[in-house]
Amino acid sequence: MNTTTQPLITIAIDGYSSSGKSSMARQLAKTIGYRYIDSGAMYRAVTLYAMQHNMISDDLAIDEQSLIAALPEIDIDFQVDGERQYTLLNGVNVESDIRSMAVSNRVSPVSAIPAVRHALVKMQQQMGQQKGIVMDGRDIGTTVFPDAEMKVFVNASAQTRAQRRLSELIEKGVATTYEEVLSNVINRDHIDETRAESPLRKADDAIALDNSTMSIEEQNQWLLNLYNDTIANL
Ligand code: DC
Repeated sequence: MNTTTQPLITIAIDGYSSSGKSSMARQLAKTIGYRYIDSGAMYRAVTLYAMQHNMISDDLAIDEQSLIAALPEIDIDFQVDGERQYTLLNGVNVESDIRSMAVSNRVSPVSAIPAVRHALVKMQQQMGQQKGIVMDGRDIGTTVFPDAEMKVFVNASAQTRAQRRLSELIEKGVATTYEEVLSNVINRDHIDETRAESPLRKADDAIALDNSTMSIEEQNQWLLNLYNDTIANL
């Protein structure tokens, strides 16, 4: 918890898939005693809900009307258990299910539906009302918290990101290949950047970070330095 007298701020960390933004964001939140919210997990949870209710066909067509009608029934929350944080979908821990390739392959079209975005943006804004929050995603600095005191936009090459994602998936025992992960990363970049509703883009006042050649420790230090500078210059 935040035990200092530092003012509480809002921290928005956006960027490309598998750019390492979630790990950086989570670590910063832990170091400074802030709440961490992985907004991508929320889009993944809605996608899982749609899959569980047969709203996505094998050819990835989405029954948008049914999904939009079901939005009020979808409750998403996070549970902190020591070092770990789990995503809850209607009270059920779905943390491992939402990381599957099946969800990864369907989440971008689901997150392009304007009504889904409106519902989740509203939930995210409520979560950030008290400040003292680090949220990562695609549109946090542009749409969710346009007034955030600290904004970062993270990128790394698609190859670097695919390699990182592959290592994570292998560690979790998910069967996949580098080619499959690279194609998923490139495809999601494309959908995220070209969707009509709040596409992935750097906010004008966000600080860009390309972490292709940085170690995890270097990124964490870079982010902590930026936080300290931001607080010092409020
Ligand atoms: O960060 P992630 O890879 O877990 O995000 C999963 C998907 O959710 C990603 O392909 C785009 C979408 N997303 C989004 O549209 N807006 C956000 N704020 C976060 C994620």
